[in-house]
Order: sequence, then C-alpha cells, then structure tokens
Amino acid sequence: MFKNAIVRRPGHSLVNGITSAPELGKPDYGLAIKQHDAYIAALKSCGVEVTVLETDERFPDSCFVEDVAVCTKKFAMIAKPGASSRRGEEKEIIEVIKKFYNNLEYIKEPGTLEGGDVMMVGDHFYIGLSKRTNREGAEQLIEVLEKYGMSGSIVEISEMLHLKSGLAYLEDDVLLVTGEFINILEFKKFNKIMIDEEEIYSANCIRVNDYVLVPAGYPKTKEKIKAAGFKVIVVDTSEYRKVNGGLSCLSLRF
Ligand code: GLY
Repeated sequence: MFKNAIVRRPGHSLVNGITSAPELGKPDYGLAIKQHDAYIAALKSCGVEVTVLETDERFPDSCFVEDVAVCTKKFAMIAKPGASSRRGEEKEIIEVIKKFYNNLEYIKEPGTLEGGDVMMVGDHFYIGLSKRTNREGAEQLIEVLEKYGMSGSIVEISEMLHLKSGLAYLEDDVLLVTGEFINILEFKKFNKIMIDEEEIYSANCIRVNDYVLVPAGYPKTKEKIKAAGFKVIVVDTSEYRKVNGGLSCLSLRF
C-alpha cells in the first residue's frame, strides 16, 4: 500500500523541457496545470496523501520528481540525473524526503541514475541502463539495496528513454510490456499484458493501491487492463507527453 505521494507543480519553463518528440509541439501551460490538478485528484482518490512542492522555474523538467529519488520500504536513494539540464534537481527533493525517511542514501559521481529507470517488484528492483542511468549508478543502487536486505538487477536498454517508458508492474505478477522489453528473459515469469505499438506511450501506467492510472487516449490499453481485473482511472497527460513525461514520472509514491 502507498500512503504518500510527492509531486511538484510544473513551472512555465515546462515548455523548455527535454523532448524526443518535438513534432508534438510545446506543452500548453494552462492545460498542463489543469492536468496536474486532475493527476493529484486521482492520486488522492486512490487513498494517498499528496505533498505538493512549489514550482522551480530553474528546472524545466522538475515536475518529473520520480527521476530524482527512489523510495523503497527501508530507505530513499537520492538520484543523480544523467541529463545535464536536470543536474541539481535532486538537491531540491532532499528536504521533503527527510520528512518521511530516516535512511537517506545518495548516488555519487561518476554514477548517474534516474528513478524512471527503476522498477520495483516487491523487494527486487529492476534497473535500466539507459542514456540517463549508467552502470556505476545502477551498481551503487544494487549495493545499497543489498545492505538493506533487498536486491536489484540490471536491464540493458537500447531504444526507450527510461525503463518505465516501456514497462509497468501492476502488482499481482502482472507486467505491462511493450517494444524492446517484450522478449527479455528476466520478464518471462510475469503475466504480460502486451501494449500495441501504436499505443506505446500507454505502457507507462501506475498501480496505486486499488487502482491503475492509465493515460487518456489509449483505449486498447485501458480495455486490456480492465479485462485483467483491475479498476482503472484515466488521467490526461497529453501536455507532459510532449516533454517525455508520463504518469509515473509525475510523482514519487511510497
Ligand atoms: N522531459 C523529461 C526528461 O526527458 O527527463
């Protein structure tokens, strides 16, 4: 069960967020704020208390708080963004994390690690090696996980931005999976729900207590998740998609 979530309000600088899909255009800030309100409401309706952090205009991508920390049952790891324009965001999350965690750990240079590359499955954490997370960062996280009696393993990524751009663990052994992750051996043991290529963005769903949050506009994915027996809440993230953002990266949940 998640009791808490942390989000950060997007600033106007969101329009300058990193994007790998410039053809989608710039985010509409007014709409992004409305979508953020709806996202917070959805989290609350799943029974979590939401801590809302103030905007930080210095960092266009700072609403994507999931990337700057990894929250586990026993400790929180302050990450080290691999994207140079995001370097420094991690310092701004420390104070609020300290309110919830006594045990803080830190990824140290030359390690880089972004939380979007970390997928929790019980006490095991899959860590994607991406353009943002390097082997040094992944190995630091594994070492700390083992110190606290948990474990981690590495998944190589060649195409996706983050591990959770193409994977979502919905609990109960169910894994949403798409693209390059479909045939990976490590995920063989899960009951997989395959996401169609044309709905690839919607692989980034999140299970929050009794519900699965699904992005608006992906009817096939929504129906597949419902058919698997999950209760679904649809949340529109169209403006965040324009800057590589999705449901998972908009919050830390613990
Ligand atoms: N714009 C979010 C990211 O690429 O990190």
